[in-house]
Amino acid sequence: MCGIVGVLGNHEAAPLLVEALKRLEYRGYDSAGIATVDGTALTRRRAVGKLVNLSDALVHAPLRGKAGIGHTRWATHGAPTEANAHPHGGGKVAVVHNGIIENYKALRSELEASGLTCQTETDTETVALLTEHHLARGLSPREAAAATVARLEGAYALAFLFDGEPDLLIAARKGSPLAIGYGNGEMFVGSDALALGPLTDRITYLEEGDFAVVTRTSVEITDAGGHPVERAIRTVRPEQALVDKAGFRHFMAKEIAEQPAVITRTLDAYLDNGRIDLPAPGLDFNTLDRLTLVACGTGHYACYTAKYWFEALARIPVDIDVASEFRYREPPLDPASAALFVSQSGETADTLAALRYCKGKISTIGAVVNVTESSIARDSDLVFPIHAGAEIGVASTKAFTCQLVVLLLLALEAARQRGTLTEEEVTGRLTELRALPGLINHALALEERIGRLARRVAEARDVLFLGRGAMYPLALEGALKMKEISYIHAEAYASGELKHGPIALIDEHVPVVVMAPTDTLFDKTVSNMQEVMARGGRVLLITDAEGASAAGDGVWETLILPEVAPFLAPILHAIPVQLLAYHTAVEKGTDVDQPRNLAKSVTVE
Ligand code: F6R
Repeated sequence: MCGIVGVLGNHEAAPLLVEALKRLEYRGYDSAGIATVDGTALTRRRAVGKLVNLSDALVHAPLRGKAGIGHTRWATHGAPTEANAHPHGGGKVAVVHNGIIENYKALRSELEASGLTCQTETDTETVALLTEHHLARGLSPREAAAATVARLEGAYALAFLFDGEPDLLIAARKGSPLAIGYGNGEMFVGSDALALGPLTDRITYLEEGDFAVVTRTSVEITDAGGHPVERAIRTVRPEQALVDKAGFRHFMAKEIAEQPAVITRTLDAYLDNGRIDLPAPGLDFNTLDRLTLVACGTGHYACYTAKYWFEALARIPVDIDVASEFRYREPPLDPASAALFVSQSGETADTLAALRYCKGKISTIGAVVNVTESSIARDSDLVFPIHAGAEIGVASTKAFTCQLVVLLLLALEAARQRGTLTEEEVTGRLTELRALPGLINHALALEERIGRLARRVAEARDVLFLGRGAMYPLALEGALKMKEISYIHAEAYASGELKHGPIALIDEHVPVVVMAPTDTLFDKTVSNMQEVMARGGRVLLITDAEGASAAGDGVWETLILPEVAPFLAPILHAIPVQLLAYHTAVEKGTDVDQPRNLAKSVTVE
């Protein structure tokens, strides 16, 4: 949610800020703005909507200066208007913020009581006004920012820029990620390494409660207790800096197409000579009574699929939950259990809070993340990277399948340790897993056909997704993908549940996507499908050659995937599901990579 950036450069700051904001736009695109200090004068420029509107505004009214801050917004407090756009302040100080200031109402009352007027509906404005207030009392910029930060409750990554201070940025972090970037005689601040990619590959991630005073030649960091600290400078891997569509029309299309390559990379990282070699050893599945898997959205559906794997392959009871529920329902936790927190960004506020709830109560906390420097990774005992590479499309695709691959590898390792599968059985399954990227290539070859089907699906008002067993979570994921990018109402059901109510929705206008690999549940899924067709439902069947011939007549369309071992079907079948959502959205002309109301990284609850 919201991306922030800061530059103390040797060149004009505005183009650098806009370029960095482009790379942060996936975090929010309700409005964007920058502020710069030219000589000594602090000036702001802001625009509602996509970043391109700000770029246009800057063409007509450029901002000069080599120091600046910028922001791309996902609205939390206050509508997406220019008045509510960051940077806030603009007199003596300008502030950009990612997070939520929970005590902003109390601060606002105090400020108004002391004669200051709030002009926006945002929580962030109180940060700017409070700093302004401290400056007016004669505090230095550093003292004023520190005094302000000391009053804040909630979550924040903040950057402050001061009038008359072209060589000073102040940054503070609590609950939202923030990095300092080191250049040659230049310094940068950004929400993530991706934003700073073209500017520098040398990064320091601030820790919780850190406060940083940045000049072109120095960074002084103090920790939450006010003590000076040194934070490590890391060199960021080049692929973390790569953000381009590589000729594809959308990031989502590129990310779907990348799956054979990124899954191969994941497997290479976890397999050594045909055996599982976990990057973080120490998870003793033999001593575990239970496993808890927690995530949000697509990550939750990856956990849901993994529940089937852990239970069937390793005979471990698994609890799953969405993080926003888990964190507040005070679940009793078994000390002999472990929990895995699954998150592409590693910054999702609810997942992080759920993780912190588990701390000290269970034996092991593991993170299954794409961003290994993220807060969730850093707060975990063990980190299992998914190696999907930067995912920019707001709808998760390659991160989902890479999460599935890592969770499957963990389930197989659990089965090996617990002896529920023999070494040979595990090796056999790993050989099948190694063949998966090749099968995904075959699934990708269905794209043109799916594109044609999508034209019909795009006419629908509602779409249903059905699956049984481990295909049920994929049905849920299919419905999520469809609604978030095409804005068509979509729902998913476990096929067996249909006759308990949802079958009332079926008529000839509702496409019903049925995922039915030939596994032990195939015949049952086909009976449920017949029930749909008997009521005029238009079934799009996703199966394999054997399933296609066994399914019988009356199916509207069939997509035939290569034969695959049933335990791998949820990963392979994800491909046509993603392509169907993608092409339906393209057909409807929606903003595929940046669907309305959404943001990629949800750092507020
Ligand atoms: C949907 C999607 C979201 C995320 C969710 C969690 O396509 O991407 O549902 O899965 O917001 O995000 P992470 O995985 O970053 O914790």
